[in-house]
Amino acid sequence: MAIPQVDPEIIDFYTETFDEATRLTSTADGMLEMVRTQELLRRHLPDAPADVLDVGGGPGAHARWLAADGYRVHLVDPVAKHVAQAAEAGCTAEAGDARELRAGDASYDVTLLLGPLYHLLERADRDRALSEARRVTRPGGLIAAAAISRYASLFEHTATTWLDRGSVRDAVTDILATGVHEPGRKGFTAAYFHTGPGLADEMRAAGLRDVRVFAIEGPTWSLLKATEQHTGAPLGSDSPLFRAALAAARSAEPYPDLLAAASHLLAVGHV
Ligand SMILES: C[S@@+](CC[C@H](N)C(=O)[O-])C[C@H]1O[C@@H](n2cnc3c(N)ncnc32)[C@H](O)[C@@H]1O
Repeated sequence: MAIPQVDPEIIDFYTETFDEATRLTSTADGMLEMVRTQELLRRHLPDAPADVLDVGGGPGAHARWLAADGYRVHLVDPVAKHVAQAAEAGCTAEAGDARELRAGDASYDVTLLLGPLYHLLERADRDRALSEARRVTRPGGLIAAAAISRYASLFEHTATTWLDRGSVRDAVTDILATGVHEPGRKGFTAAYFHTGPGLADEMRAAGLRDVRVFAIEGPTWSLLKATEQHTGAPLGSDSPLFRAALAAARSAEPYPDLLAAASHLLAVGHV
């Protein structure tokens, strides 16, 4: 099979344009993503110590707390800057691609894919990443994969009011219809945006069992974004609006219809 090449646009975006290291701490919706990802993962992880492979782990935001929880974490990411930052996160780290992992068969208890799936536009590439995650995970082990919701850009660009701009509205309209943000459009890299059922189908097609999909931030994250945007004042994690949005995410969990309102989705399944 051909050696996968990560699109240079992705490397440039994370190296030159965007500071991934502060994404989950610098905004209220980022903090909500972190708190909820942590609580959802902790609910499904085996007891520590266990071996965790964090594929597309970026600068190590999750590797850091997983290592503090007692897990042995190895991180893989195609962006050299992220690999260098992750090396300070209490884990080992190497450059690599989700579609062709260097890890041996059945060598990890848990494999995380909290980023690669939305950066892979083609279904065949996402299938390959999930199949690699399955290969390197021990029988009975956990795979957790994050996706960006198909509808997130509609909420986000309403909160920022950018939906009022024709070019943004056209891009959002195309994402809603196709799930694809085409290469060369500004704002983010080219990306694939999942529906909840679509993400579950991809996990099951990879042969995973007991697949469940959760709304990470729940239905009201864009209220946090709008409030910060239009007041210019950051919302702390102790603010009433943040606490209400966190409570809403927890209350909404049993209702699959509300998956559509999340910014990110988290799918879990077992090998
Ligand atoms: C938004 S960041 C998420 C980082 C971290 N996992 C988190 O959840 O905070 C997406 C990450 O996916 C990585 N990525 C993109 N394409 C990838 C691929 N083909 N294989 C592995 N990682 C990839 C990027 O370099 C980036 O670090």
